[in-house]
Amino acid sequence: MGERVAVVTGAGSGLGRATAERLLAQGMRVAGWDISQDGLEWLSQHPSASTAAVDVTDPEQVGAATEQVRSAWGRVDCLVNSAGIFLVGPLAEVETSAVRALFDVNVLGTTLVTQALMPDLIASRGAVVNLSSTVALRATASNSHYAASKAAVAQLTRCWALELAPHGVRVNALAPGPTNTAIYTSAGIEPADVAALLADRAARIPMGRAGDPTEIALWVVRLIDDEWVTGHVIPVDGGMSIA
Ligand SMILES: NC(=O)c1ccc[n+]([C@@H]2O[C@H](COP(=O)([O-])OP(=O)(O)OC[C@H]3O[C@@H](n4cnc5c(N)ncnc54)[C@H](O)[C@@H]3O)[C@@H](O)[C@H]2O)c1
Repeated sequence: MGERVAVVTGAGSGLGRATAERLLAQGMRVAGWDISQDGLEWLSQHPSASTAAVDVTDPEQVGAATEQVRSAWGRVDCLVNSAGIFLVGPLAEVETSAVRALFDVNVLGTTLVTQALMPDLIASRGAVVNLSSTVALRATASNSHYAASKAAVAQLTRCWALELAPHGVRVNALAPGPTNTAIYTSAGIEPADVAALLADRAARIPMGRAGDPTEIALWVVRLIDDEWVTGHVIPVDGGMSIA
């Protein structure tokens, strides 16, 4: 049997990158996909990795990258859907284009990649790990559409788990609390405001701090390796969702 293969979207930054690093350290092959070619630079020279500049909202790009992995490695054992974008802003101000982009990347993108890799995951009786969020479980003001997109990811996770269980494929999600990554500045929030936002959230986290990407990656890998858990959305959030 060859080395196990993981496809990680959003591997150019944050939780996707931390997950790819951990999977490589465990001896898996990693296909890192990201819309940002620059973001994938760190991965491009790794002997057990391949990279592809993929916009997960584009079915043709997703299809081409899927074919690339199939012809190079002939199998896919797990998929980590970490490509995602954030949006902050009250209902009164939210722009149509921003809501569309949010659901395109977070919901449609997760769908297109999972759909493209389904035959491979069924063949390997593999695992999918999606990225939901604490805000999908607990209401917060000022990021309702982001929260709704992550609630959609949570429910897709449960429904796909039922659909794919007969094929031996497990589908779970993590619901991370606020974790220090580029997602906030990429959403157009000024660095000083990001610090304030994370400090504000940290004040509502029982463990008193934001998360580190490596702490989320640890759970992604657990969900890949576990063979009995499916259809769950697991909070990894310093206790935020129960406070
Ligand atoms: N950081 C947090 O606090 C947090 C908390 C809960 C959930 N999440 C979720 O975790 C996931 C990863 O977030 P992160 O914090 O690592 O963010 P990040 O911005 O650090 O990384 C996300 C990556 O996705 C890529 N991406 C964006 N749009 C894409 C597209 N259309 N096609 C392909 N790639 C695209 C970006 O280029 C980036 O490299 C997201 O789904 C996010 O919603 C993050």
